[in-house]
Amino acid sequence: MSDKEYQKLAFIGAGNMARSLIGGLLNRGYPAQKLACSDPSEACLTAAQKLGPITTTHSNLDIIADADLVILAVKPQVLKDVLQPLSSLLKQGRPLLVSIAAGINSASLQQWAGDEVPIVRCMPNTPALLQEGASALYATDQVSDAQRSLAETVLSAVGIVAWVEAEPTLDVVTALSGSGPAYFFLFMEAMQAVGEQLGLDAETAQRLTQQTALGAARMAVESDDDVAELRRKVTSPNGTTEAAIQSFENSQLRETVELALTAAFLRSQDLAKELA
Ligand SMILES: NC(=O)c1ccc[n+]([C@@H]2O[C@H](COP(=O)([O-])OP(=O)(O)OC[C@H]3O[C@@H](n4cnc5c(N)ncnc54)[C@H](OP(=O)(O)O)[C@@H]3O)[C@@H](O)[C@H]2O)c1
Repeated sequence: MSDKEYQKLAFIGAGNMARSLIGGLLNRGYPAQKLACSDPSEACLTAAQKLGPITTTHSNLDIIADADLVILAVKPQVLKDVLQPLSSLLKQGRPLLVSIAAGINSASLQQWAGDEVPIVRCMPNTPALLQEGASALYATDQVSDAQRSLAETVLSAVGIVAWVEAEPTLDVVTALSGSGPAYFFLFMEAMQAVGEQLGLDAETAQRLTQQTALGAARMAVESDDDVAELRRKVTSPNGTTEAAIQSFENSQLRETVELALTAAFLRSQDLAKELA
């Protein structure tokens, strides 16, 4: 693909998420001259420039004028104030607007940007900062197939991408993969602590826990077996793993997980109402 065929991408906000996306795109060979970002912070723009020779500016209006895709990478609390002044330019150029802001629904985005503007909402997660993210995308009716594909290209730069067909499903995504890294951190924290209680030094407990989590995740991703089968395969009758698994089952681990994810799902719905 020649550079001319790449679409122009404008990032509003050059914080952690935007810089991860820009870094991921550059790593995949996206031409730097097709990437631009704006931010009030000089430090963020300098950090963005270190990724490659992209366009950086303090003016949001400057970079959206000829953009094919505008990605909103600012905090949810400031999104309305950021978006409203861009509305007339967005209505003229009709770029695809992609929001990664948690909890702001497409009706609000549409109201602030203008009815005609095609919108994709995205729910990424923190491992996107290491390009190991899991993002779900939802597109409004105005979004064309080519624009869907472009949004997918951008988010694929920081990990895997899944589409949801109904916007409320993004609350499920928030409860599963959005908040999910913290569940694994909590589990690892608990494993490390018990490893120490049972006699390991802190560093060894930490290293063994981390590598076990990484190894198990890689097996789950790379094996042809599903996770239930992988678990059965490492659980010998009357062995150590079976003793632990039986203890988890007796302690209602599955019900605990159900309650926790449901709490996150309901909180996500409430937050969306508060931000609307
Ligand atoms: N980080 C994650 O793992 C993660 C996961 C899921 C979703 N998200 C979503 O991603 C979005 C960005 O998160 P982040 O972690 O990248 O936040 P961040 O590092 O704080 O980046 C946001 C950037 O936007 C800038 N900004 C503020 N007002 C602006 C304006 N008027 N025009 C242009 N830029 C402006 C901020 O500058 P100042 O600092 O000077 O205000 C900051 O550099 C959020 O909506 C968040 O909900 C993040």
